[in-house]
Amino acid sequence: MNTLMETLELNPNNLNSSFQTEKWCGHEFLYKFHNFWFTQTYLNTTQIVLQNFKPLPTDIILASFPKTGTTWLKALLHSIIHRSPKAENPLIYNHPQELIPSLETNLYLQERISKIPELLSAKSPRILGTHIPYQIIGDVLSSSECKIVYVTRNPKDTLISLWHFVQKSKDVEEDPWELEVAVDQFCKGIVPFGPYYDHALAYREESIKSPQKVLFVTYEELKENPNNHVKRLAEFLGCPFEDDEEVEEVVKSCSFEILSNQEVNKSKELPNGFPLPYSSFFRKGEVGDNVNYLEERMIERIDDVTREKFHDIGFVY
Ligand code: A3P
Repeated sequence: MNTLMETLELNPNNLNSSFQTEKWCGHEFLYKFHNFWFTQTYLNTTQIVLQNFKPLPTDIILASFPKTGTTWLKALLHSIIHRSPKAENPLIYNHPQELIPSLETNLYLQERISKIPELLSAKSPRILGTHIPYQIIGDVLSSSECKIVYVTRNPKDTLISLWHFVQKSKDVEEDPWELEVAVDQFCKGIVPFGPYYDHALAYREESIKSPQKVLFVTYEELKENPNNHVKRLAEFLGCPFEDDEEVEEVVKSCSFEILSNQEVNKSKELPNGFPLPYSSFFRKGEVGDNVNYLEERMIERIDDVTREKFHDIGFVY
């Protein structure tokens, strides 16, 4: 087994020339790896994660497709696990993406290499995020007793959230990602960590097969009844709440209204190793915003793909 340093050296960017590529948006290309699409940076870091990350039995892994509510779940999981008095809530001064790093987007980055052992030495239980599909990281995650929480979201809202998110990048300002193209690429699965459908399906199937190990939750059900789902999350993680007031407090401190108004989350500062500012993780935080952007025929096209992909497991948006 290579050391982390050797692995990084074995993965110079030019090795990626052997992968099938597709032009994405801005100046960015996507690379196909085990039937999923990755940006060059995350293709490298994903390979490093696969070779080096060893989950502990106490780890909590938050898995998600981008723009499905990862930041919200990071805040919720942190609050559920590390219950703290209101005034000392770390969410007041820390962006959820900093409190809970993601394996391939925050941790296993070349520029953070010297800090990885320190970042991974967090007090147990560690909470770590990932966008890596189960088809790729499943063997690593099933090598320990770690628990997995997977969040997903209506595909049309996910796409619209992603579309807005990438508009904030400088490259895209120069070479816009037209909505028409975005819909086409989303339906074909050619978006980072896509296809969205295959991503959600594998975690969904795993949650049905191993409900003690994988908990599957949707953005919409959390919006509709946050208290119930926060209780469900806490029970799944083995740390149930004793009273409803505590649940209420967690839900409130992680609500879009409160979180998006914390100074740290409004910051234009760039997180370590990330091209967009902290503020870009908060936009509207609503269900159904897609209708304000998608034309009827775009909605029909996405709905057709959704029915076709999700029908067999009885999971339809
Ligand atoms: P919108 O762009 O639809 O507003 P991710 O964290 O996976 O990148 O997802 C980002 C989406 O979650 C954005 O959706 C963002 O506004 C929304 N979001 C962030 N924090 C939230 C919260 N506390 N409650 C509800 N939605 C939230």
